[in-house]
Amino acid sequence: MKKRDFLSIADHSSQDITAILKLATQLKKKPSLHAGLLKGKSIALIFQKPSNRTRVSFETGIFQLGGNTIYLAPDDISLGKREPTADIARTLSRYVGGIVARVFAHGDLLELSKYATVPVINALSDLSHPCQALADILTVQEKFGQLKGIKMAYIGDGNNMTNSLMLACAKVGMDMVVAVPKGHEPAMDYVKKAQACAQVTGAKIIVTHDPVKAADGANVLYTDTWVSMGQEEETAKRLKDFKGYQIDAKLAAKADKGHIFMHCLPAHRGQEVSADVIDGAHSVIFDEAENRLHVQKAVMVFLYSSKK
Ligand code: CP
Ligand code: NVA
Repeated sequence: MKKRDFLSIADHSSQDITAILKLATQLKKKPSLHAGLLKGKSIALIFQKPSNRTRVSFETGIFQLGGNTIYLAPDDISLGKREPTADIARTLSRYVGGIVARVFAHGDLLELSKYATVPVINALSDLSHPCQALADILTVQEKFGQLKGIKMAYIGDGNNMTNSLMLACAKVGMDMVVAVPKGHEPAMDYVKKAQACAQVTGAKIIVTHDPVKAADGANVLYTDTWVSMGQEEETAKRLKDFKGYQIDAKLAAKADKGHIFMHCLPAHRGQEVSADVIDGAHSVIFDEAENRLHVQKAVMVFLYSSKK
């Protein structure tokens, strides 16, 4: 049986994404479903960066599926420094049933995937965060009862979240307007991939520099930090560059009356979002956080039990 990975939403068909979302809904209703899936398996969690949601939801989800986890902090295996990443992948494959990895360079995930004989799951890289994007889509589906025709406005930094959200929206037929300052656009190959996929599903993926245009009539307002992990040295410049891109009450008033506000967290009140918006009645941030657990369990059911 050939192992399967979950590295990017681009690697999976719209049908597979829909199947994962359906599974996640079932697992949310009945957390004990597939309880024996990972029985006897250890899953290695390689984390080069800090984490609250990703680590805790993976550890909890793997436990609920009958497996156990081995958390490897940045200094434990020193990915790419102490020994070649290919050797880490081949060694870990002799012990564990899977690898969940949060890395700086997306290429490290590709290297792990190439050499590991067990499934590799992307727990965030500089280029993407597919588990978060799927949890977000599940949240949108729960709130609106549908995905097609829903408009998401992403306002802020064109980063790993933006890349994965564009692909996810395109795959499920949601429209997405991304508003970023000049010089902070999402990765062009992700824009192209998402737009190509959108042509098939009927979605629209647009990149603009105008936050008001993006927010206009939107069903979903989404933002993320202006300073992603690994960019700390650029903080002063970034805070300047993103002036005018905060989602505050004035901008939120442009959105549809029934809109929801989303943020993958961790958030910075007073920077990418005002406190009244993120803590206000439209905010669904903790539903998104909870859905990480259900979606990631669904991803593991998909990887470990689907037909190869
Ligand atoms: N959203 C998210 O991935 O959070 P953590 O960095 O806390 O895992
Ligand atoms: N863009 C953020 C997402 C955190 C979950 C980062 O990479 O730090």
